[in-house]
Order: sequence, then structure tokens, then C-alpha cells
Amino acid sequence: MKTLKIASMLAASVALPLTASATELEVTHWWTSGGEAAAVAELAKAFDASGDKWIDGAIAGGGGTARPIMISRITGGDPMGATQFNHGQQALELVEAGLMLDLTDVAEANNWKDIVYPPSLLDACTVDGKIYCAPVNIHSPEWLWLSNKVYEDLGIPVPTNWNEFVASAPQVDAAGKIPLALGNQPWQSNLAFGAMQIAVAGLDAWKAVNVDKNMDVAAGAEYAAVFQAAADARELARKSTVQDWNQATNLVITDQAAGQIMGDWAQGEFQVAGEVAGKDYTCLLGLGLNEYISTGGDAFYFPKLDDPEKEAAQKRLAAQLVSPEVQVAFNLKKGSLPIRGDIDLAAANDCMKKGLEVLAGGNIVPSGDMNWSPDVQKQNEDLMVEFWKSDMSPADAHAKWVENLKSGL
Ligand code: GAL
Repeated sequence: MKTLKIASMLAASVALPLTASATELEVTHWWTSGGEAAAVAELAKAFDASGDKWIDGAIAGGGGTARPIMISRITGGDPMGATQFNHGQQALELVEAGLMLDLTDVAEANNWKDIVYPPSLLDACTVDGKIYCAPVNIHSPEWLWLSNKVYEDLGIPVPTNWNEFVASAPQVDAAGKIPLALGNQPWQSNLAFGAMQIAVAGLDAWKAVNVDKNMDVAAGAEYAAVFQAAADARELARKSTVQDWNQATNLVITDQAAGQIMGDWAQGEFQVAGEVAGKDYTCLLGLGLNEYISTGGDAFYFPKLDDPEKEAAQKRLAAQLVSPEVQVAFNLKKGSLPIRGDIDLAAANDCMKKGLEVLAGGNIVPSGDMNWSPDVQKQNEDLMVEFWKSDMSPADAHAKWVENLKSGL
């Protein structure tokens, strides 16, 4: 604990501005739910406390709405001081166009290469050997969140995996509850499908397709089973009519729905609502079938501003986002995992502890943002929207999905 304090004081002193005047930086992001807002407030608090000024540029409507706005501001000559993206390929074209600030000196001065774990997080920030983003968290999307009360009221045990969840759904349905809460935004059904891939197809098939790009496996039996599971999930979500992911989480929090497939950021909502992991709700990593974490996440990128004072503040913010203090404060509120293993997360709840344990054990895979281009991901999102909102057969969806993947090879 003592070492941690000293280390973070040192980091803070390195980050302090040389002049007393506060430099304002507008920071854009899509963190607008209760839990997300609480988490981002920790970033703002730390930046302001170190002598600069965070001007919050939250964009409502989720990443799908926010990202085009962020990108067009940067390409259109109205750049912000810093912006969230999922690290991977979302900002690649901006970097390649020379619009983003090179943070290699900050990364070297603060030893990011030795600190950031897993190293793939920093690799995803690196283009041609230079570092262009400051990773802030690992977000794992493959969780099933369950309302314990729904099952207690039915007098049946809380499911321990996806198969039990599906088997219990008719009883949930008969009791007038929604078996599976799912928001209408395209990325949410895509996320649910992604979680099913590792859970149902298993790690070997997942890797063959997503890392080795083996299209025979993509078209094969393991993935046919994934599409069948998605068809089951589609039935279970028929009664869910909400739009935003946090509205769907709220259906679980208020025991109107039995479960939701969502990323670890759902934890922030349970926390804000005062719910306790293990008591009020249950979280099943890998849908309780295969406990793997895909290590994508959020990172901040800094558009070039042609203003030395702002640039210095951008670099101070970049260093601070990775610092131990900020990593602890932010991730405890967000429900995500820190990007460094050398910090004390004793205050983590049961779900976060599970994530930390799996991460430390090395059961990790790269995220979709790192494996597939935004174009392929967009095509798959569109496919998922069509599939979840129609009676498209699992076989037809499967065939179209393989075609989409092939377009990205
Ligand atoms: C993701 C983001 C997460 C989470 C989620 C829902 O793209 O990486 O941090 O907040 O969107 O808003």
C-alpha cells in the first residue's frame, strides 16, 4: 500500500503542470449511463485536481452514435482535446491520416511497455512503432447478468450457465417476466452473439475463426450451434422492447427480466442501484460455459491541436489515465478491469474479482475490435439486427455471416 502511495505521488508530480494556469481540454466519450457517468467523473476529478480543467463532452446514444460525430469533428477541423475510442481499429484511419498526437514519449517516460497488461492493449495503440492511445480499461463483453429474485420467486435455483438459463425460461415467461432483456441498438445483439461464440463454439473454434481466419471452421458445425443458440436467445428476448443497454440492465435490476447478456459495464448500474453481487444478482462469465475474457477496452486518443500549451496538457492527461490512482478509482466505478496488474483492487466486488482471477490466469483472447475491421463489424451488426428482428433462419444468418467475414480477408 505504501509503495502504491509513493508511486502514485511520483506519477502525480510528474504530471503536474509547470504553470499555475489551468489548461482546458474538451474530452468526448459515450459514457452516459449512471455507472458510466460515475466512472468518468473520477477521470475529470483527477484531471482538475492536478491543475488542469476537464470539459466534459459526453455524447448520448452509445458508441454507434458517438463515433461518427467524433470522427467527423476530427477530420472536419474541429478537434476535441481528447476522445474515447475502443482501442483497435476504430481510430486507425485518423492515425494514418496524421491527425492524432504521438504519445510515444509519454509512454516511454511512464514505462507503459512494462506496466500495461496484457501487452496486446498497448499493441492496439501502436501504429508503425508509435503509440497513439492511453488505454484505460479492459472491458469484457461476455457476461450473463441474472436477477436472483426472479428465480427465488419461482422457487428454482439461479442458473449456473446458459443451458440452464434457456431451460428455465418457460417458467420465467409463464410468470409474466421477460426471460432475456435486450436493447434495440445494433451493437447489443452483436455483443450477445459475440458472447455466445466463445461460450458455445469453444475456444479452439473461436480462435480458428477470429485469429486464424479459418473460413471452413466458420462455416462448420461449431458455429451452426452458435447460430442455434442465437435463435434460442431471439425467442427469449421477444418481450424486451427497450432501446439502450442500461434500460435493459434496469429490467434485470428491477426483477422484471431474468437476465441480460452484457459487458462488465453493467456492474456500474447494479452498483449505482445499490445491488450486491452474489446476493441480488449473479454474473456468469462466458455465459457460465467457457470462462474467457476478450481483452478489448477503452482508450483515449488525442487529436493534434497545433497548440503547445494544449499539447502539454494532453500529454499530462494521457499519463494520468494510466496512473495507479486513476486506474483504481475509475475501474471500481466502471466495473471494468484495470490495464495494469500492479495495483490494489481489494475493494472489487465478486464479479470484478472473478474477472481479475481469469485475467491473471491468462484465459484471455483479443477483442473483435482488434480482429476485424470496422467494415466487417458493421456488416455483422446489420446482419444481427435483421436476424434478431425477423424470423431469418439460423442457417441463412450463418451463411451470410461467413460471407461478411470473407469480405474482410
Ligand atoms: C463500449 C465501451 C464500454 C461501455 C459500453 C456501453 O463501447 O467500451 O466502456 O461503456 O460501450 O456504453
